[in-house]
Amino acid sequence: MKVTVSRKAHFNAAHRLYRKDWTNSQNEEVFGKCANPHYHGHNYELIVHVTGSIDPATGYVMDMKVLKDLIKEKVEDQMDHKNLNEEVAAFSDLIPTAENMAVVIYNWLKPHIDKKHQLSVTLYETPRNYVSYSG
Ligand code: NI
Repeated sequence: MKVTVSRKAHFNAAHRLYRKDWTNSQNEEVFGKCANPHYHGHNYELIVHVTGSIDPATGYVMDMKVLKDLIKEKVEDQMDHKNLNEEVAAFSDLIPTAENMAVVIYNWLKPHIDKKHQLSVTLYETPRNYVSYSG
């Protein structure tokens, strides 16, 4: 029997979607407003899902306090109020789309999640646009 526990988190960050090897007009054509050279921000909503068996000793799949602190330290503290392109090393050569961000967040969290458990992350860039990654 597998059960999924989920924790929601939130952070604000700025980004710009562009390729250095494309002209400004090419970038604008592909990335639209997100190519704005002056950057722009999003209110990101993150949901982290951990799936596993219930530990009969505790009744937990995973202690949510531990998950909360892990997300705070590994994700929020790294991204909140940051310019993703300029300040987060993971995006120095990677376009900070929601897709790439979900993979980066997954990779940051994965080493700290019990190997018996399955990890999945869902990242909302806007209330209507969101991406998911499960490894
Ligand atoms: Ni954007």
